[in-house]
Amino acid sequence: MLLEIRGLTVRYGDVQAVHDVNLSVERGELVSIIGANGAGKTSILRSIMGLQTSAAEVMNYNGEDIRSMPPHVRAKKGLRIVPERARIFPDLTVYENLRMGAYQQSANFRERVETLYTLFPILAERSVQLGSTLSGGEQQQLAIARALVSQPELLLVDEVSMGLMPKLVSEVFAVLQSLNRDSGLTILLVEQSALLSLEISHRAYVLETGEIRLEGSAQDLQNDRRVQEAYLGM
Ligand SMILES: Nc1ncnc2c1ncn2[C@@H]1O[C@H](COP(=O)(O)OP(=O)(O)O)[C@@H](O)[C@H]1O
Ligand SMILES: [Mg+2]
Repeated sequence: MLLEIRGLTVRYGDVQAVHDVNLSVERGELVSIIGANGAGKTSILRSIMGLQTSAAEVMNYNGEDIRSMPPHVRAKKGLRIVPERARIFPDLTVYENLRMGAYQQSANFRERVETLYTLFPILAERSVQLGSTLSGGEQQQLAIARALVSQPELLLVDEVSMGLMPKLVSEVFAVLQSLNRDSGLTILLVEQSALLSLEISHRAYVLETGEIRLEGSAQDLQNDRRVQEAYLGM
């Protein structure tokens, strides 16, 4: 098990945003957490990265207890997050933005960027353009690529579909699927958009008001009447 979490709880003052959540991710898996706005998705991802104070009975990464580790140590262990509405640096070029993602490791940077440019051809074309000149979809791709520069083992992706046109969402999801399938990257993504995330995931969790209501293979959830009614508009 690459990531194992039991009894995760997040509070904001008196509000309990995440309640006793158990979840796990195997190496090589693409797992999604689907849930409506306010369900607690961002709170869970930020807790895993160490950016959000939380309590958990178990939070192991690669068999190691990471609960007391600050975010940069978790990053060194191989965890990386693409935050909700990820900000890129508007006054830096695409290439320079990628450079910022590699701040601790500069060895093989060019080589790694070349690999990313083959995955994100649009970024190769825009390499010397300023971040501010990119479209929303291109900025989202740059945010993902920037997280990948340091070659993480587990990528946490927070609502990458938000604010993108459906066509671009499909493109970004296709890239995530290929990163998982062809490059062996383990991915945990959270999404309101259940249809596409279930299509590319191996397994999924359904989160409602801070609690896991359903879990299973993506295929079983796609066929689940409750999921179809609540999340797939069927
Ligand atoms: N900093 C905060 N202070 C107070 N309440 C918060 C804060 N962040 C999130 N919440 C509340 O916690 C709940 C879960 O939020 P969040 O994790 O952002 O959900 P999601 O990402 O699924 O939309 C929501 O009710 C939200 O209003
Ligand atoms: Mg969120």
